Amino acid sequence: MSTQSTRLRIWDRPVRLFHWTLILLVALSFASGKSGAWGLHFVSGYAILTLVLFRILWGFFGSENARFTHFLKSPLAALRQLARLAKRDQDRETSHNPAGGWMVLVLVSLLLVQGLSGLFANHDPGFSYSQHGPLAMKVSEATQESLSAWHVAGQRYMVFAIALHVLAIMLYKLVKGHELVMPMLTGEKLLPEGAKAPRLASGRLALGLLLMAGAAVFLFIRFF
Ligand code: HEM
Repeated sequence: MSTQSTRLRIWDRPVRLFHWTLILLVALSFASGKSGAWGLHFVSGYAILTLVLFRILWGFFGSENARFTHFLKSPLAALRQLARLAKRDQDRETSHNPAGGWMVLVLVSLLLVQGLSGLFANHDPGFSYSQHGPLAMKVSEATQESLSAWHVAGQRYMVFAIALHVLAIMLYKLVKGHELVMPMLTGEKLLPEGAKAPRLASGRLALGLLLMAGAAVFLFIRFF
């Protein structure tokens, strides 16, 4: 095994800010939903939708290694990756590994479904004064009911996916010796000599896309 000797910047600031802000917002959404602090729950949900939409745009137009085409590999590649989980080896990834890439897609999709279904959720259809999402009254009661069911069931899937995500990161550290958390904090990773740094996109582009995402969420809620 060769020694890790090059420190490269692999995660841009937008991805890192996206990730750690997302964790705070997901925690806030769970807490406010459970305690019935609906104003906070709605604001947190809009912010999550904005971040997720931003991340989707960043996955097409952002930094090289944040693009879906860069880190989404075939399911077979993901399975091969998992089959090597018990093997201690050197980390050579400058993006998500093939299994991690699919996990990112699952997490982003779950967050999108959770946020969108919340807009239309109504936990007491038929009573317009009960607590309901801002767009619930624009759709039929049947649609409200099925989207409420999605919103409720989504919490369990989310908890499961997050637990799996964190467990995988811990296993990569403990079993394979791959340090993934520090790079998500600092942006930098130790890689074998000769590894190539990904091309990182500008912060100005990220800000533009974030504003676009926020505007799209606002317009959707206002004019649906
Ligand atoms: C303390 C808890 C968490 C830790 C330590 C953590 C750590 C990490 C790390 C290290 C990565 C990069 C993995 C890699 O190198 O391939 C990552 C990616 C990611 N995590 Fe977490 N995570 C946590 C919680 C969450 C939560 C609650 C969510 C929200 C559902 C989440 C969503 C994501 C997403 C979407 C990515 C992909 C980031 C991107 O490409 O933009 N994580 N996480």
